[in-house]
Amino acid sequence: MTISEITFSPTGGTRRVADILAHALGNDIRTIDLADPHFDASAIPQPSDGEVAVIAAPAYAGRMPGPAAERLSQLDGNGARAVIVCVYGNRAYDDSLAQLQDVAQKAGFTVIAAVAAIAEHSVARRYATGRPDGDDKAALEGFAAQIAAKLASGDDTCPKVPGHVPSGETGRLGMIPHPTRACNQCGTCAAQCPVQAIDPGDVKAVDRSRCISCMRCVAICPRSARRIGRIMQFMVNRHLKKVCSTRRSPQLFL
Ligand SMILES: Cc1cc2nc3c(=O)[nH]c(=O)nc-3n(C[C@H](O)[C@H](O)[C@H](O)COP(=O)(O)O)c2cc1C
Ligand code: SF4
Ligand code: SF4
Repeated sequence: MTISEITFSPTGGTRRVADILAHALGNDIRTIDLADPHFDASAIPQPSDGEVAVIAAPAYAGRMPGPAAERLSQLDGNGARAVIVCVYGNRAYDDSLAQLQDVAQKAGFTVIAAVAAIAEHSVARRYATGRPDGDDKAALEGFAAQIAAKLASGDDTCPKVPGHVPSGETGRLGMIPHPTRACNQCGTCAAQCPVQAIDPGDVKAVDRSRCISCMRCVAICPRSARRIGRIMQFMVNRHLKKVCSTRRSPQLFL
């Protein structure tokens, strides 16, 4: 079975979850990267008959990241059956799975399964560290077997997922990473920022109206020279301590 693996994954956790599901469902995978800084929906071929999509996005403040929703809505699902996947940092996913379902349906996908899974918290990496881990992989592969059985049965019913479709714009978190003195202006962060918020000519300059606080620039800097302010980091870690301390498990909705 051909699987279109469609992900928005600035720091890779969402992609790791989607990879596990996609490889458990089929062996012919084509990837569509919604976090590509040069994303161009018109350059992406339409899904073919019988193709299944795995569509994965992270939870940001309990919603889909704005660019993930905008870019997914530019695709034409053409009725292809889809598994939607929300990946969160072990706090909560709130309305993000419901929103992902809504956006995928409006883009023309037939949602037949939904998964919520956990990956390392990309802002506070001390939480859900190393996830998805072996236990997550086993759970996700078990889900894939159940999803494959539903696909084979021809049952295209839409799962009921928790949460509501949120209205209004995704809130901006205002956590803007900046370079430290260790920065050598290599330009990697500017080239890889999913929304081109960093000025390639001066990596200290960030367009605050574009930045979505995705932390890709922090994760990929080869000199570990980009970060949010120490006080902000301390406050985020402290705020999440209680809500992130209990291990949560992946969930499947069929
Ligand atoms: C701006 C922002 C907001 C986030 N909000 C939440 C949240 O509401 N709940 C949660 O459990 N994790 C939250 N996270 C953690 C991410 O959902 C989680 O780390 C996810 O795996 C990141 O995906 P990525 O690794 O593909 O970038 C947030 C992360 C960021 C960057
Ligand atoms: S990736 Fe790191 S070292 Fe390179 S320009 Fe960005 S902050 Fe500086
Ligand atoms: S500048 Fe903002 S949007 Fe761009 S990679 Fe960094 S955190 Fe993400």
